[in-house]
Formats: sequence, C-alpha cells, structure tokens
Amino acid sequence: MYKTRIAGVGSYIPEGRLTNHDLEQMVETSDDWIVTRTGISARSIAAPDQYTSDLAFLAAQRALADAGLTAEDLDMILVGTETPDHPFPSVACQLQHRLGCRAISAVDLHVTCVGFLSALETADAFIRSGKCRHILVVGADNLSRITDYTDRTTCILFSDGAGAFVVSQTADPSHPGILHTATHANGEHYFSLYQERGGSIKMDGRKIFKLAVTAMTETTKQTLEATGKTIADIDWLIPHQANQRIIDAVAEHCEVPNEKVISTIKYLGNNSSATIPIAFDLARQDGRIKRGDTLLLTAFGGGLVWGSALLQF
Ligand code: ACO
Repeated sequence: MYKTRIAGVGSYIPEGRLTNHDLEQMVETSDDWIVTRTGISARSIAAPDQYTSDLAFLAAQRALADAGLTAEDLDMILVGTETPDHPFPSVACQLQHRLGCRAISAVDLHVTCVGFLSALETADAFIRSGKCRHILVVGADNLSRITDYTDRTTCILFSDGAGAFVVSQTADPSHPGILHTATHANGEHYFSLYQERGGSIKMDGRKIFKLAVTAMTETTKQTLEATGKTIADIDWLIPHQANQRIIDAVAEHCEVPNEKVISTIKYLGNNSSATIPIAFDLARQDGRIKRGDTLLLTAFGGGLVWGSALLQF
C-alpha cells in the first residue's frame, strides 16, 4: 500500500509591496479600517513583467531542491491557479518545459483558492494508485491582475505569490504522509464571488465571510472525525489566508488555540491558491513546522468550493 509523503516544499513571494498607506492614496479607505476588518497591512505584488508561470517556476525550483530531486524525476505536474498567464495553454505546460521535465502529464486545476488543496488531493490519488512516484504540486496566483483598484471592497484583500510541494511515493509504514483529503463544491453561490468575463473580481463580502467560516469549520471537523484525531493531535492549522477575522473564527469554532494557527495575511494578503503552501514554507523556514509534525490545511474559495487535508510532514 503506497502513501504520499511531502518530500519538498518551496515558495516564491514577489518583492513588490502594496501597503494600506498606498491604498489610502488610491481609494477612500484607511489603514485603521483595513487592519480592523481584515488584519492586512501589506500585500505581495508581482512586477509588471512577472506572470503566474514565473512565480510558479521559482517556487517549483525551490521545492525540487528541498526534495533533493531533479525535474527529470517528476511524473506529473499539477498547478492550482485561477490566473494562468493565458486562458490556454496551462501554467503546468510552461513549467514542464521551463523546468526541463520529460513529456509528463501537466494539468492546471481551476478551483479558485482551493486550487492547491485540489491539486494535492489529485496528486495523492495518483501516488496511492501506484501510477506516479513524484508529483510537483503548485499553488500560484497573480490576483493583482484581476483586481479592480477602484473598488475599495475588494482591492484591500488581494495579492500575488506561489508555493509548491513535491510529493513522493512511500511504502514506509512509519511515514504516514497524507492521511486524509476532502474537497467540496456548491455552485448555488456562484455569483457571490466571481471574475467578470475578461474583467475583475466581484464579491458579496459579507455573504462570503459567513460561508467561508461555516465551510472551513465543517470540513476541519469532518477531517478530524474521519481520521480519528482531535485538536490535541494537531501541531499546526494552516487556513487559507483570506481575512484574519475568518481565520480567527474558524480557529475558535474548532477550538484550536491561537499559537497553533499559522497566519501570513498581515504582510502578504490573499494570493489565492498560493496562501497555504507559502504559509507552510515560511513556518518551516522559521523553525515552527518540523519533520514529523501533524498539520491540518483548510481552504475555501469562489464556487463555492472548500476542502481540507490532514498530513504528517
Ligand atoms: N474602507 C472603508 N470602508 C469600507 C471599505 C474600505 N476598504 N470597504 C467597505 N467599506 C464600508 C462599506 O461600504 C460599509 O459601509 P456602509 O455600512 O455605509 O454600507 C462598511 O464599510 C461595512 O462593510 P462590510 O462589507 O459590512 O464590511 P465587513 O466587515 O464585512 O468587511 C470584507 C468587508 C473585508 C470584504 C469582509 O466581508 C470579508 O473579508 N469578506 C470575505 C472576503 C473573502 O474572503 N473573499 C475571498 C476571496 S478568495 C478568492 O476566491 C479570490
């Protein structure tokens, strides 16, 4: 019986920063309002010539180096993104070529902010089936490209970035790796959060806030139940970084103490599919996440889509 272990992690955060003070010059808002309502002070923003594939490429290179593998070892590339460089071909195809992979399968998954978790779930299934040994899983988005910077209700939230895992097959019973994944969709709320055709993000913020808290709380509790774990077994919760108040509400409903919750939203904002792997990588780099730790990941996004994963690193 094969299992999926996280062999390597990497991320790339673009250098550009859009602060609340910058936004005060652009729309009628204030640092105080944004911090109080969202917890965000600054957002990572890609340079004008940096596309999603450029961010994804750098994160992927770092994850491969961390795993001690080369591009030729990969059997598949999965990219969660809602902002591909072009509607087609995929970001995954660009990575296949730029990384120097064999002519392997390369697929983008358009699952909004759940893109990374959906890609991870898909990778886990291919590895467990025995079909692939090593898969590159990327979450990458350039939300600044589809943000309307005259709309104060949305432009305060969004940012750019990329994160990646390399996941590998293991038959070692002492290495449980990915223990559980679950993803869900309910199209009833399609127009509560969507991108206008060829345009920018439109959102019913209040409605999405409530749906997000309910969905992430539910999926987190269901995942614990499915694996027979309790919060005491979990070292870290990494929720999708959409709003600090959403993160706090989910943690509170699931009774996760604040010190177990990883949050990057204050300095990075919401870069969609990239938030979870970036938060993972940063917390690993600063020594919080260690090999052997048990993590719960949970996300929601436009669709409405939501899901979670429980893994031992
Ligand atoms: N600055 C100042 N005032 C503002 C701003 C702003 N930037 N934006 C809205 N306001 C005003 C509103 O007009 C409103 O004024 P009114 O009472 O006179 O009508 C007042 O502030 C309160 O507005 P609300 O929308 O009720 O504020 P809320 O506390 O809900 O915060 C927010 C808004 C931050 C958008 C919140 O609802 C939220 O985070 N929702 C979830 C968003 C989200 O997670 N989206 C996911 C995107 S992921 C993806 O798939 C791309």
